[in-house]
Amino acid sequence: MAPFLTFTLFTLYLALISATVITANAIFSQHFATTKPTPTAIKTTRLHFYFHDIVSGKQPTAIPIIRPKNAFGTTAMVDDPLTLDTKPRSKLVGRAQGLYALASKHDQALLMAMNFAFTYGKYNGSTLSVMGRNPVLDAVREMPVIGGSGVFRFARGYALANTVRYNPKTGNAVVQYNVTVMHG
Ligand SMILES: *[C@@H]1O[C@H](CO)[C@@H](O)[C@H](O)[C@H]1NC(C)=O
Ligand SMILES: *[C@@H]1O[C@H](CO)[C@@H](O)[C@H](O)[C@H]1NC(C)=O
Repeated sequence: MAPFLTFTLFTLYLALISATVITANAIFSQHFATTKPTPTAIKTTRLHFYFHDIVSGKQPTAIPIIRPKNAFGTTAMVDDPLTLDTKPRSKLVGRAQGLYALASKHDQALLMAMNFAFTYGKYNGSTLSVMGRNPVLDAVREMPVIGGSGVFRFARGYALANTVRYNPKTGNAVVQYNVTVMHG
């Protein structure tokens, strides 16, 4: 490494160390500069689809697997269709497989832990893994995409979700997903 760069990084390191937040001897955060190897081409992909959470009727795609006395902790295993359009019978692009659980005692916030398994075009066989907090009553919810497989190897990104249809009688919902991921 060039001496100048080493010096710059060292100065940056000192500057960052001195920015460490210390309150009453308890350290909450520290920042460190790191160097990264030159990455190979990183692609960005945006996906747009609709998530159909069908909880009632003859063929529900979301099944409660844990039902505590109070709502907190309620958990469902899902195999929800993902489609191109809002209509449930529009082109299937994949399935959301995994679970969601009511993880908040204070509001309607779910823990989402699921894989989007795609079956459409060149994405057939590739997956994205979503793990995040989903406060379902918020207009737009953001959830991290923490990994992927196939064309989405090394994926990192985020999903923006907004409910487009919710039937309070049946509990069925259609949710629009806009996913942005960077991957190898
Ligand atoms: C996706 O791939 C599987 C396995 O290779 C294949 O059986 C299936 O027909 C493909 N689906 C689509 C929609 O291309
Ligand atoms: C998602 O994308 C669609 C189409 O591009 C757009 O109309 C919509 O506002 C977006 N929703 C969110 C929550 O970003």
